[in-house]
Amino acid sequence: MTTRIIGTGSAVPKQVVTNDDLAKIVDTSDEWIRPRTGIRERRIAAAESGTSDLAAEAAKLAIEQSGIKPEELDIIVLATSSGDCCFPSGACEVQAAVGAVNAVAFDLSAACSGFVFALNTVHSFLTAGIYRTGLVIGADTLSKLVDWNDRSTCVLFGDGAGAVVVRAEDTGVMGLTMGSDGTKGGVLKCGGRTTGNFLTGKKPELGYMTMDGQEVFRFAVKTVPEAIKKTIAGSGTELEEIKYFILHQSNYRISESIAKRLKLPMEKFPANLERYGNTSGASVPILLDELNREGKLKPGDKLLLAGFGAGLTWGTTLLEW
Ligand code: ACO
Repeated sequence: MTTRIIGTGSAVPKQVVTNDDLAKIVDTSDEWIRPRTGIRERRIAAAESGTSDLAAEAAKLAIEQSGIKPEELDIIVLATSSGDCCFPSGACEVQAAVGAVNAVAFDLSAACSGFVFALNTVHSFLTAGIYRTGLVIGADTLSKLVDWNDRSTCVLFGDGAGAVVVRAEDTGVMGLTMGSDGTKGGVLKCGGRTTGNFLTGKKPELGYMTMDGQEVFRFAVKTVPEAIKKTIAGSGTELEEIKYFILHQSNYRISESIAKRLKLPMEKFPANLERYGNTSGASVPILLDELNREGKLKPGDKLLLAGFGAGLTWGTTLLEW
Protein backbone atom coordinates (compact mmCIF):
# COMPACT_ATOMS: atom_id res chain seq x y z
CA MET A 1 0.00 0.00 0.00
CA THR A 2 1.27 3.48 -0.82
CA THR A 3 -0.01 7.02 -1.37
CA ARG A 4 -1.47 8.28 -4.63
CA ILE A 5 -2.26 11.89 -5.52
CA ILE A 6 -5.84 11.93 -6.85
CA GLY A 7 -6.49 15.68 -7.09
CA THR A 8 -4.58 18.97 -7.18
CA GLY A 9 -5.48 22.62 -6.72
CA SER A 10 -3.82 25.98 -6.27
CA ALA A 11 -4.63 29.61 -5.55
CA VAL A 12 -2.70 32.86 -5.75
CA PRO A 13 -3.77 36.41 -4.86
CA LYS A 14 -5.07 38.60 -7.69
CA GLN A 15 -2.62 41.45 -7.09
CA VAL A 16 0.39 41.25 -9.45
CA VAL A 17 3.53 43.10 -8.31
CA THR A 18 6.21 43.41 -11.01
CA ASN A 19 9.92 44.08 -10.57
CA ASP A 20 9.26 47.60 -11.88
CA ASP A 21 6.62 48.08 -9.16
CA LEU A 22 9.21 47.11 -6.52
CA ALA A 23 11.72 49.55 -8.00
CA LYS A 24 9.32 52.28 -6.84
CA ILE A 25 9.61 51.26 -3.17
CA VAL A 26 13.22 50.01 -2.82
CA ASP A 27 16.47 50.71 -4.69
CA THR A 28 16.30 47.82 -7.15
CA SER A 29 15.53 47.12 -10.80
CA ASP A 30 14.25 44.45 -13.18
CA GLU A 31 17.81 44.36 -14.59
CA TRP A 32 19.15 43.31 -11.16
CA ILE A 33 16.38 40.92 -10.12
CA ARG A 34 15.66 38.94 -13.27
CA PRO A 35 19.13 37.67 -14.24
CA ARG A 36 19.97 36.74 -10.62
CA THR A 37 16.71 35.02 -9.73
CA GLY A 38 14.51 34.43 -12.79
CA ILE A 39 11.66 36.35 -11.12
CA ARG A 40 9.64 38.86 -13.19
CA GLU A 41 6.58 39.32 -10.97
CA ARG A 42 4.88 37.87 -7.91
CA ARG A 43 1.39 37.89 -6.34
CA ILE A 44 0.89 39.70 -3.04
CA ALA A 45 -2.08 39.08 -0.76
CA ALA A 46 -4.24 42.05 0.11
CA ALA A 47 -5.09 42.54 3.78
CA GLU A 48 -8.41 40.72 3.50
CA SER A 49 -6.93 37.46 2.16
CA GLY A 50 -4.54 35.47 4.33
CA THR A 51 -2.75 32.13 4.31
CA SER A 52 -5.86 30.19 5.38
CA ASP A 53 -8.05 31.78 2.68
CA LEU A 54 -5.58 30.82 -0.05
CA ALA A 55 -5.13 27.36 1.49
CA ALA A 56 -8.90 26.77 1.57
CA GLU A 57 -9.30 27.94 -2.04
CA ALA A 58 -6.57 25.55 -3.23
CA ALA A 59 -8.00 22.73 -1.09
CA LYS A 60 -11.52 23.14 -2.54
CA LEU A 61 -10.13 22.83 -6.08
CA ALA A 62 -8.11 19.73 -5.17
CA ILE A 63 -11.13 18.10 -3.50
CA GLU A 64 -13.34 18.93 -6.49
CA GLN A 65 -10.85 17.40 -8.91
CA SER A 66 -10.39 14.27 -6.81
CA GLY A 67 -14.11 13.51 -6.83
CA ILE A 68 -14.16 12.68 -3.11
CA LYS A 69 -16.59 14.19 -0.63
CA PRO A 70 -14.99 16.41 2.07
CA GLU A 71 -16.43 14.04 4.73
CA GLU A 72 -14.15 11.30 3.37
CA LEU A 73 -11.01 13.16 4.47
CA ASP A 74 -9.35 11.55 7.49
CA ILE A 75 -6.42 13.94 7.86
CA ILE A 76 -5.50 17.50 6.81
CA VAL A 77 -1.93 18.75 7.13
CA LEU A 78 -1.18 22.35 6.21
CA ALA A 79 2.49 23.22 5.76
CA THR A 80 3.04 26.88 6.49
CA SER A 81 5.45 29.19 8.24
CA SER A 82 3.16 32.19 7.91
CA GLY A 83 -0.10 31.14 9.53
CA ASP A 84 -2.63 33.89 10.16
CA CYS A 85 -3.05 33.07 13.87
CA CYS A 86 -0.92 31.40 16.55
CA PHE A 87 -4.02 29.29 17.10
CA PRO A 88 -6.27 27.82 15.89
CA SER A 89 -4.09 26.22 13.25
CA GLY A 90 -4.61 27.11 9.61
CA ALA A 91 -5.40 23.44 8.99
CA CYS A 92 -8.39 23.68 11.35
CA GLU A 93 -9.57 26.80 9.52
CA VAL A 94 -9.33 24.92 6.22
CA GLN A 95 -11.20 21.99 7.76
CA ALA A 96 -14.07 24.31 8.64
CA ALA A 97 -14.00 26.01 5.23
CA VAL A 98 -14.18 22.77 3.23
CA GLY A 99 -16.51 20.86 5.59
CA ALA A 100 -14.11 17.99 6.33
CA VAL A 101 -15.99 17.11 9.50
CA ASN A 102 -14.29 13.73 10.03
CA ALA A 103 -10.67 14.83 9.63
CA VAL A 104 -7.94 15.53 12.15
CA ALA A 105 -6.22 18.77 11.15
CA PHE A 106 -2.89 20.30 12.11
CA ASP A 107 -0.13 22.55 10.76
CA LEU A 108 3.45 21.59 10.05
CA SER A 109 6.36 24.03 10.04
CA ALA A 110 9.29 23.31 7.74
CA ALA A 111 9.44 26.53 5.68
CA CYS A 112 10.11 25.87 1.97
CA SER A 113 10.40 22.10 2.61
CA GLY A 114 6.99 22.16 4.28
CA PHE A 115 4.79 20.70 1.54
CA VAL A 116 7.14 17.77 0.90
CA PHE A 117 7.45 17.14 4.64
CA ALA A 118 3.65 17.24 4.98
CA LEU A 119 3.14 14.88 2.03
CA ASN A 120 5.67 12.43 3.49
CA THR A 121 4.01 12.69 6.91
CA VAL A 122 0.54 11.93 5.55
CA HIS A 123 2.06 9.13 3.43
CA SER A 124 3.33 7.55 6.67
CA PHE A 125 -0.17 7.59 8.19
CA LEU A 126 -1.66 6.12 5.02
CA THR A 127 0.90 3.34 4.60
CA ALA A 128 0.59 2.47 8.29
CA GLY A 129 -3.10 1.85 7.65
CA ILE A 130 -4.17 4.50 10.17
CA TYR A 131 -5.93 6.73 7.63
CA ARG A 132 -7.15 6.26 4.05
CA THR A 133 -7.69 9.74 2.57
CA GLY A 134 -5.75 12.93 3.22
CA LEU A 135 -5.46 16.57 2.20
CA VAL A 136 -1.97 18.04 2.05
CA ILE A 137 -1.53 21.79 1.58
CA GLY A 138 1.42 24.15 1.27
CA ALA A 139 0.42 27.79 1.80
CA ASP A 140 2.38 30.90 2.66
CA THR A 141 2.00 34.66 2.66
CA LEU A 142 5.62 35.62 3.27
CA SER A 143 4.72 39.15 2.19
CA LYS A 144 3.83 39.75 5.85
CA LEU A 145 7.21 38.45 7.09
CA VAL A 146 9.61 40.30 4.80
CA ASP A 147 10.97 43.74 5.55
CA TRP A 148 9.72 45.84 2.64
CA ASN A 149 12.71 48.16 3.15
CA ASP A 150 15.21 45.30 2.64
CA ARG A 151 15.83 44.92 -1.08
CA SER A 152 17.97 41.80 -0.59
CA THR A 153 14.94 39.74 0.53
CA CYS A 154 11.70 41.52 -0.39
CA VAL A 155 12.20 41.04 -4.13
CA LEU A 156 12.36 37.25 -3.83
CA PHE A 157 9.01 36.19 -2.39
CA GLY A 158 5.35 35.92 -3.35
CA ASP A 159 2.16 34.58 -1.75
CA GLY A 160 0.16 31.48 -2.71
CA ALA A 161 -1.16 28.03 -1.88
CA GLY A 162 -1.24 24.58 -3.44
CA ALA A 163 -3.00 21.41 -2.32
CA VAL A 164 -3.30 17.72 -3.14
CA VAL A 165 -5.80 15.06 -2.12
CA VAL A 166 -4.11 11.71 -1.49
CA ARG A 167 -5.48 8.23 -0.97
CA ALA A 168 -4.02 4.88 0.07
CA GLU A 169 -3.63 2.88 -3.17
CA ASP A 170 -1.32 0.30 -4.72
CA THR A 171 0.78 2.75 -6.75
CA GLY A 172 2.04 6.25 -6.03
CA VAL A 173 4.84 7.25 -3.67
CA MET A 174 7.95 5.13 -4.33
CA GLY A 175 10.53 6.72 -2.07
CA LEU A 176 11.46 9.72 0.02
CA THR A 177 14.28 11.46 1.84
CA MET A 178 14.07 14.07 4.60
CA GLY A 179 16.75 15.91 6.52
CA SER A 180 17.42 18.85 8.82
CA ASP A 181 20.45 20.76 10.05
CA GLY A 182 19.43 22.95 12.97
CA THR A 183 22.98 24.21 13.45
CA LYS A 184 22.51 26.32 10.28
CA GLY A 185 19.27 27.90 11.45
CA GLY A 186 20.73 31.41 11.37
CA VAL A 187 21.24 31.30 7.59
CA LEU A 188 17.57 31.96 6.93
CA LYS A 189 15.53 33.22 9.82
CA CYS A 190 12.37 35.07 10.76
CA GLY A 191 11.78 35.96 14.39
CA GLY A 192 8.44 35.25 16.03
CA ARG A 193 6.99 37.11 19.01
CA THR A 194 9.65 37.96 21.59
CA THR A 195 8.84 37.35 25.24
CA GLY A 196 6.66 40.17 26.43
CA ASN A 197 4.95 39.73 29.78
CA PHE A 198 4.66 41.30 33.24
CA LEU A 199 8.11 39.95 34.22
CA THR A 200 10.00 41.43 31.26
CA GLY A 201 7.87 44.56 31.34
CA LYS A 202 8.06 44.64 27.55
CA LYS A 203 5.54 44.38 24.78
CA PRO A 204 6.14 41.46 22.39
CA GLU A 205 8.03 42.42 19.25
CA LEU A 206 7.84 40.84 15.83
CA GLY A 207 10.89 40.04 13.74
CA TYR A 208 11.44 40.20 9.99
CA MET A 209 13.15 37.75 7.71
CA THR A 210 16.94 37.77 7.38
CA MET A 211 18.94 35.67 4.94
CA ASP A 212 22.51 34.89 3.97
CA GLY A 213 21.71 34.43 0.29
CA GLN A 214 25.04 32.97 -0.78
CA GLU A 215 25.01 30.42 2.05
CA VAL A 216 21.46 29.35 1.07
CA PHE A 217 22.64 29.00 -2.52
CA ARG A 218 25.58 26.79 -1.54
CA PHE A 219 23.39 24.65 0.74
CA ALA A 220 20.73 24.09 -1.92
CA VAL A 221 23.00 23.16 -4.82
CA LYS A 222 24.97 20.68 -2.68
CA THR A 223 22.25 19.09 -0.55
CA VAL A 224 19.39 18.76 -3.03
CA PRO A 225 21.25 16.71 -5.70
CA GLU A 226 22.59 14.44 -2.95
CA ALA A 227 19.09 13.93 -1.54
CA ILE A 228 17.70 13.24 -5.02
CA LYS A 229 20.40 10.64 -5.75
CA LYS A 230 19.77 8.99 -2.38
CA THR A 231 16.02 8.80 -3.06
CA ILE A 232 16.53 7.33 -6.53
CA ALA A 233 19.13 4.83 -5.33
CA GLY A 234 16.69 3.23 -2.91
CA SER A 235 13.81 3.04 -5.41
CA GLY A 236 15.01 0.81 -8.24
CA THR A 237 14.41 3.72 -10.65
CA GLU A 238 17.04 5.42 -12.84
CA LEU A 239 17.49 9.20 -12.74
CA GLU A 240 16.77 9.37 -16.50
CA GLU A 241 13.37 7.69 -16.00
CA ILE A 242 12.05 10.69 -14.04
CA LYS A 243 9.84 12.84 -16.28
CA TYR A 244 9.88 15.98 -14.14
CA PHE A 245 11.85 17.22 -11.17
CA ILE A 246 9.42 19.55 -9.42
CA LEU A 247 11.80 21.62 -7.32
CA HIS A 248 10.95 24.28 -4.78
CA GLN A 249 10.92 27.49 -6.80
CA SER A 250 13.53 29.54 -4.96
CA ASN A 251 15.75 30.78 -7.69
CA TYR A 252 16.18 29.79 -11.36
CA ARG A 253 19.96 29.65 -10.98
CA ILE A 254 19.63 27.16 -8.10
CA SER A 255 17.46 24.91 -10.32
CA GLU A 256 19.98 25.22 -13.19
CA SER A 257 22.85 24.31 -10.90
CA ILE A 258 20.97 21.27 -9.52
CA ALA A 259 20.16 20.11 -13.07
CA LYS A 260 23.81 20.51 -14.05
CA ARG A 261 25.04 18.51 -11.07
CA LEU A 262 22.59 15.73 -11.96
CA LYS A 263 23.70 15.98 -15.64
CA LEU A 264 20.08 16.41 -16.75
CA PRO A 265 18.50 18.85 -19.25
CA MET A 266 16.47 21.84 -17.99
CA GLU A 267 13.39 20.51 -19.83
CA LYS A 268 13.02 18.09 -16.93
CA PHE A 269 12.87 21.02 -14.47
CA PRO A 270 9.62 22.92 -15.05
CA ALA A 271 9.51 26.40 -13.52
CA ASN A 272 6.97 29.10 -12.75
CA LEU A 273 8.85 31.42 -10.40
CA GLU A 274 9.05 33.98 -13.19
CA ARG A 275 5.33 34.63 -12.48
CA TYR A 276 5.05 33.90 -8.75
CA GLY A 277 8.48 34.41 -7.17
CA ASN A 278 9.36 32.15 -4.26
CA THR A 279 6.09 31.13 -2.59
CA SER A 280 7.88 29.05 0.08
CA GLY A 281 5.84 26.00 1.14
CA ALA A 282 3.37 26.60 -1.70
CA SER A 283 5.76 26.48 -4.64
CA VAL A 284 5.93 22.70 -5.19
CA PRO A 285 2.15 22.06 -5.11
CA ILE A 286 1.37 25.16 -7.23
CA LEU A 287 3.78 23.94 -9.92
CA LEU A 288 2.41 20.39 -9.65
CA ASP A 289 -1.15 21.68 -10.08
CA GLU A 290 -0.20 23.75 -13.12
CA LEU A 291 1.45 20.77 -14.82
CA ASN A 292 -1.55 18.60 -13.97
CA ARG A 293 -4.13 21.09 -15.27
CA GLU A 294 -2.07 21.65 -18.44
CA GLY A 295 -2.37 17.88 -19.11
CA LYS A 296 1.38 17.33 -18.86
CA LEU A 297 1.15 14.47 -16.34
CA LYS A 298 0.16 11.01 -17.60
CA PRO A 299 -0.53 7.86 -15.56
CA GLY A 300 2.77 6.06 -14.92
CA ASP A 301 4.91 9.23 -15.21
CA LYS A 302 7.59 9.36 -12.54
CA LEU A 303 7.98 12.65 -10.70
CA LEU A 304 10.49 13.79 -8.14
CA LEU A 305 9.32 16.53 -5.76
CA ALA A 306 11.98 18.40 -3.76
CA GLY A 307 11.70 21.09 -1.09
CA PHE A 308 14.55 22.87 0.69
CA GLY A 309 14.86 25.89 2.91
CA ALA A 310 14.95 27.31 6.41
CA GLY A 311 15.85 25.06 9.30
CA LEU A 312 17.86 24.19 7.36
CA THR A 313 15.62 21.46 5.96
CA TRP A 314 15.32 19.41 2.79
CA GLY A 315 12.99 16.68 1.57
CA THR A 316 12.13 14.68 -1.55
CA THR A 317 9.24 12.50 -2.67
CA LEU A 318 9.55 10.15 -5.66
CA LEU A 319 6.17 9.10 -7.03
CA GLU A 320 4.38 7.53 -9.93
CA TRP A 321 1.50 9.64 -11.23
N1 ACO B 1 18.47 45.10 -6.06
C1 ACO B 1 19.65 45.72 -6.28
N2 ACO B 1 20.78 45.43 -5.62
C2 ACO B 1 20.69 44.48 -4.68
C3 ACO B 1 19.49 43.80 -4.38
C4 ACO B 1 18.36 44.15 -5.12
N3 ACO B 1 17.17 43.57 -4.93
N4 ACO B 1 19.73 42.92 -3.39
C5 ACO B 1 21.02 43.01 -3.07
N5 ACO B 1 21.60 43.97 -3.84
C6 ACO B 1 22.98 44.42 -3.82
C7 ACO B 1 23.62 44.28 -2.46
O1 ACO B 1 23.33 45.38 -1.65
C8 ACO B 1 25.06 44.20 -2.82
O2 ACO B 1 25.51 45.50 -3.08
P1 ACO B 1 27.01 45.96 -2.62
O3 ACO B 1 27.93 45.05 -3.38
O4 ACO B 1 27.05 47.38 -3.03
O5 ACO B 1 27.06 45.72 -1.15
C9 ACO B 1 25.06 43.45 -4.16
O6 ACO B 1 23.74 43.58 -4.69
C10 ACO B 1 25.40 41.99 -4.01
O7 ACO B 1 24.63 41.47 -2.94
P2 ACO B 1 24.63 39.94 -2.61
O8 ACO B 1 23.67 39.67 -1.50
O9 ACO B 1 26.07 39.50 -2.45
O10 ACO B 1 24.02 39.38 -3.95
P3 ACO B 1 24.17 37.95 -4.57
O11 ACO B 1 24.97 38.01 -5.81
O12 ACO B 1 24.50 36.92 -3.55
O13 ACO B 1 22.68 37.70 -5.04
C11 ACO B 1 20.77 36.45 -4.29
C12 ACO B 1 21.62 37.68 -4.07
C13 ACO B 1 20.09 36.56 -5.64
C14 ACO B 1 19.71 36.38 -3.20
C15 ACO B 1 21.68 35.19 -4.24
O14 ACO B 1 22.48 35.19 -3.07
C16 ACO B 1 20.90 33.95 -4.31
O15 ACO B 1 20.41 33.59 -5.34
N6 ACO B 1 20.78 33.23 -3.17
C17 ACO B 1 19.94 32.12 -3.01
C18 ACO B 1 19.00 32.45 -1.93
C19 ACO B 1 17.58 32.31 -2.30
O16 ACO B 1 17.18 32.06 -3.40
N7 ACO B 1 16.78 32.48 -1.27
C20 ACO B 1 15.39 32.31 -1.38
C21 ACO B 1 14.84 31.97 -0.07
S1 ACO B 1 15.49 30.53 0.60
C22 ACO B 1 14.80 29.25 -0.13
O17 ACO B 1 13.76 29.33 -0.67
C23 ACO B 1 15.51 27.98 -0.10
